[in-house]
Amino acid sequence: MGDPPGEQIAARLEGLPLPRHVAIVMDGNGRWAQRHGEPRHAGHRAGVRSIRSVVEACGRLGIEGLTLFAFSSENWRRPRGEVRVLMELFRTTLDRELEALHSNGVRLRFSGDRSGLAPALQARLTEAERLTAANTGTTLVLATNYGGRWEIAEAARRLARAAARGEIDPEAIDEGQVAGALSVPDLPDPDLFIRTGGEQRLSNFLLWQLAYTELYFTETLWPEFGADELATALEAFARRDRRYGGVGREAWGQTRHA
Ligand code: IPE
Ligand code: IPE
Ligand code: MG
Repeated sequence: MGDPPGEQIAARLEGLPLPRHVAIVMDGNGRWAQRHGEPRHAGHRAGVRSIRSVVEACGRLGIEGLTLFAFSSENWRRPRGEVRVLMELFRTTLDRELEALHSNGVRLRFSGDRSGLAPALQARLTEAERLTAANTGTTLVLATNYGGRWEIAEAARRLARAAARGEIDPEAIDEGQVAGALSVPDLPDPDLFIRTGGEQRLSNFLLWQLAYTELYFTETLWPEFGADELATALEAFARRDRRYGGVGREAWGQTRHA
């Protein structure tokens, strides 16, 4: 699928309030492959193209953070061959794209339980984070061997250790400290969550951070998602009235003038 040029997307979104942080569950690779009469791994390979388009579009639009769900802590339940392909694809894509990402100013981060990944892959992740640490473009977080409950439990362990060392007072633990103990504490919570592939569930993604995120679901399968549909999601986001438990834009005006 050809993507419209970057300027076209930027012009289409001109003047709209954009999210600072977008989080995406990239789902539907297997079904895409099935529809094309191909094995599931062909869908995962096709999905890499969509990742490239979306990362580029976010960079052009000046979006601060993009978190992509690449492999969940539950995805180990898949057939061994598929897990192997996914891990291999992750490593080769990272190797191939790292230089271009770096020269485009992307700051790479990984969240998830690294100890469950192959040592050679762990080393590459650390190296990619080190290389791009000072970049000031989009922060691209790849959630790999990631689970929202794992991340919250991990934060609890960190805080408990600090309390046991006497560095913090357990009674003083507040939401800010929990948020600060999560994997990528320096990004704001996602403003917009997108899930492709038609399922309407979180599948254990960013459970803490999504508390007030706007949710956008699309039937489009991930290999067919690109900059154009990202722009559609961003337009939908711009129309949302975020109330955070308050009374919203219009009602706010009414109360003020009442
Ligand atoms: C998402 O596509 C990719 C990963 C989970 C890694 P799926 O492989 O889940 O595709 P469907 O849901 O089976 O179509
Ligand atoms: C969520 O998709 C995980 C990723 C996209 C990496 P799944 O396909 O694994 O989710 P379920 O099984 O449909 O909930
Ligand atoms: Mg799926």
